[in-house]
Amino acid sequence: MTIKLQIYKCSVCGNIVQVLQSGDGNLVCCGQEMEHLPIQYDTNELGEKHTPKMEIQDGKKYVNVIGHPMTKEHFIQFIETISNNNNELHLKFFKPDEIPEMETKIDDKDGFYSIEYCNIHNLWGDNVMLENENGNYSI
Ligand SMILES: [Fe+2]
Repeated sequence: MTIKLQIYKCSVCGNIVQVLQSGDGNLVCCGQEMEHLPIQYDTNELGEKHTPKMEIQDGKKYVNVIGHPMTKEHFIQFIETISNNNNELHLKFFKPDEIPEMETKIDDKDGFYSIEYCNIHNLWGDNVMLENENGNYSI
């Protein structure tokens, strides 16, 4: 069974897929079940390097994983910001040597969260950013 927006990886060929519609079946690639990648939230040293950070500048919302390596061997492949109701998603891919940062236009009144994918350490998530009484987002 899959759940909307879960991310799966094939341990044989490296295919990565994200679920757009939940289903009862299991995802299969290269003749075997794909591995579900859980979102990690650790606050240890690895978590510090991988947890997406949100910043607000001039009313614009940014998410970054600055501080993580961006070499050919080890880099952040993408960042997503997702509304808390899971109805809106913004995705940005990165190449080695690029700065892993994106501006998000997500404006869901319930707030949003972000995840990032490291080619070696898989998926990491942040804490949810909620909108305050004034209609502004706060971390
Ligand atoms: Fe990493």
